Amino acid sequence: MVDSNILKENVGKEASELIKDGQVVGLGTGSTTHHFIRYLGERVKNEGLEILGIPTSFQSTLLARESGIKITTLDEHDIDIAVDGADEVDSNLDLIKGGGAAHTIEKLVDSSADEFVVIVDGSKVVEKLGAFPVPIEIIPESLRLVKNAVMELGGKPEVRMGIQKDGPVITDNGNFVLDTKFDNIENPYELEIELNTIPGVLENGIFSGIADKVIVGRDSGNEVIEK
Ligand code: 5RP
Repeated sequence: MVDSNILKENVGKEASELIKDGQVVGLGTGSTTHHFIRYLGERVKNEGLEILGIPTSFQSTLLARESGIKITTLDEHDIDIAVDGADEVDSNLDLIKGGGAAHTIEKLVDSSADEFVVIVDGSKVVEKLGAFPVPIEIIPESLRLVKNAVMELGGKPEVRMGIQKDGPVITDNGNFVLDTKFDNIENPYELEIELNTIPGVLENGIFSGIADKVIVGRDSGNEVIEK
C-alpha cells in the first residue's frame, strides 16, 4: 500500500500542472494542498509562470510566500481556478471540509472560482457524507444557542479543542469550531443551508454543488472524476 502522503503529493503535483500562465489561483489549506502550493512554486521559479495566488488561511499565505507565489486578495481579483483538499467526497462531488478549520474562507474562495478542483487521497472518497463530523464555525458568544439548534437538527456538536493550546481552537477569523456528527446526511445541500441559517453560525463545512473536478490519489495512479 502506498503511503497516503505520497498519494497526496501525486495529486498535488498533477493539480499544479493544470495552472496556466496569467491565472489567479485559489490556494487551499491542508496537507494535500501543501504539495500543490510547493509544486506550483517550483513552476513559478523554473518556468517564470506569472500567476497570483489567493490563500484560504494563514497556513496557505505563509506557504505561498515561502514558495515564491505572489499573493492578491478577493477585493482585487476574481479567481480563475481554485485547488483545495477535502475530508470527504461523495459520488455527486459534494464535500465535507474544515478539518483544518479553514472552511469559511475556503468556501468563499472555492465557490467564487471559475473552476474548482479538489485533490484527495483515496481514503477520502465515500458513498455518503457523514462519517467525518461537519465543522461549523461559530461566533463564540453564540455557543449555547447554536449547540441547542444543531442538536434539534439531529447533530452531536463538540467544541474543537486546541492541541498545544489550552481551550478551544480559535479560527483564523477569531471564532470557535463545533465538530458536529450527523448519523445520516440524506441531503447535503439542505443541511448546508439549514446550518447556515442558525444565528451565530458563520459557515459550515458542507460544500455541495461547488466542485467541478476531483483528482483522487490511488495506489494504481491518479483518477480524475469530473461532473
Ligand atoms: C482545511 C480543509 C482541508 O482541505 C481538509 O481538512 C483536508 O486536509 P488534508 O489535505 O490535510 O487531508 O478543509 O480546512
